[in-house]
Amino acid sequence: MRDVTIIGIGLTQFGELWDKSFRQLIAEAGASAILDAGISGKDIDAMYVGSMSSGRFVGQEHVGALVADVSGFSHMHIPSTRVEGACASGGLAVRQGYLSIASGINDIVIVGGIEKMNDVGGVSATETLATASDQEWEAFFGATFPGLYAMIAKRHMYEYGTTKKQLAQVAVKNHANGALNPNAQYKKPITLEYAMNATIVADPLGLMDCSPISDGAASIVLCAADIAKKYTEKSIKIIGSGQGSDTLALHARRDICTLDATVHAGKMAYKQAKITPKQINIAEVHDCFTIAEICAIEDLGFVKKGEGGKAVENKITTLDGSLPVNTSGGLKSKGHPVGATGVAQIVEITQQLRGEAGKRQVKDARIGLTHNVGGSGATCVVHILEVA
Ligand code: COA
Repeated sequence: MRDVTIIGIGLTQFGELWDKSFRQLIAEAGASAILDAGISGKDIDAMYVGSMSSGRFVGQEHVGALVADVSGFSHMHIPSTRVEGACASGGLAVRQGYLSIASGINDIVIVGGIEKMNDVGGVSATETLATASDQEWEAFFGATFPGLYAMIAKRHMYEYGTTKKQLAQVAVKNHANGALNPNAQYKKPITLEYAMNATIVADPLGLMDCSPISDGAASIVLCAADIAKKYTEKSIKIIGSGQGSDTLALHARRDICTLDATVHAGKMAYKQAKITPKQINIAEVHDCFTIAEICAIEDLGFVKKGEGGKAVENKITTLDGSLPVNTSGGLKSKGHPVGATGVAQIVEITQQLRGEAGKRQVKDARIGLTHNVGGSGATCVVHILEVA
């Protein structure tokens, strides 16, 4: 297998973006990544784009071809493929791009992620997201994603004594980080009291425990390591890529507090990178709900099962902690345009490893991890990045 590096990144503003269309957003992210990489369109061998449900959100399918078209590449007739895995669509697209270069088929690939969720109303957005759960066992009976993650939270509280205060501390931390991120949907710090007293969405999760409905796009340029120097001196190497799957329905899992897809994807990525979780300096994990961040830091092996809440309380995961988690603001504060999220996580870790993260820069970060989940944990993708 060939080594693969990231040579370009691009990210749009995340939020309620009424003045920009689906195609404008992905073209903007892609153009930024291409400019950042210093390549030209003719250097690109293939494109992969992650999008969860563009058909329901904006009435547009056939997104692979559309993205090549709006990027001005239709005349080159290069392969352009849409990848779908619910909220993990972006991470899966990154992995497909990575594998295509590692295998020797391509040299330079552009990967995008996009979702524009606010063009439909809140009820319709919730129904669309619920298509990623099990239709027969969950969605049919009215279970929504806040409802499913609320069940995980309740069980985690029962099994391990995790508290509502610890959940709120995840939100406070991520909003503090998001306040330092110019691209974040919510650039406002919140207090613990505000988070704990927020309107209940699905008990025990309140509004501040939930990621929002977001519009946005992200893009990266991947390049075979042996030719990366031709374009840039600041490439970041992908040293591990893992993917796992599990039952769609939560009730069928071995343990609803453990995302075995995460455990599997993490182990695969650590093994390839030849490192242990202790060697990770910084991580972007999938905090679609605050409980999801607590489960993620346990399932990725950063802390023991059941100790995620305590780790947050002890400030291990803050910007100046021993393992900063979600320095971008995470899905909670930066926003969660579902198909874009997995690619945006790579953008954040790349910025951190390049030393270009501005006010939220973590000192001396050399190895970073991204963790992108689809649904309530039926799909998971983990990538490990290192300064090349
Ligand atoms: N965090 C912080 N603030 C939020 C927010 C969130 N998650 N969601 C909405 N808000 C704010 C809005 O900005 C707005 O503020 P304003 O009055 O100052 O303008 C206010 O809360 C009301 O917004 P509204 O859009 O009416 O909220 P809503 O009640 O329709 O939606 C949720 C709130 C939590 C139901 C919605 O954000 C949601 O469904 N989130 C989960 C998304 C999800 O499941 N993603 C997939 C994960 S697997």
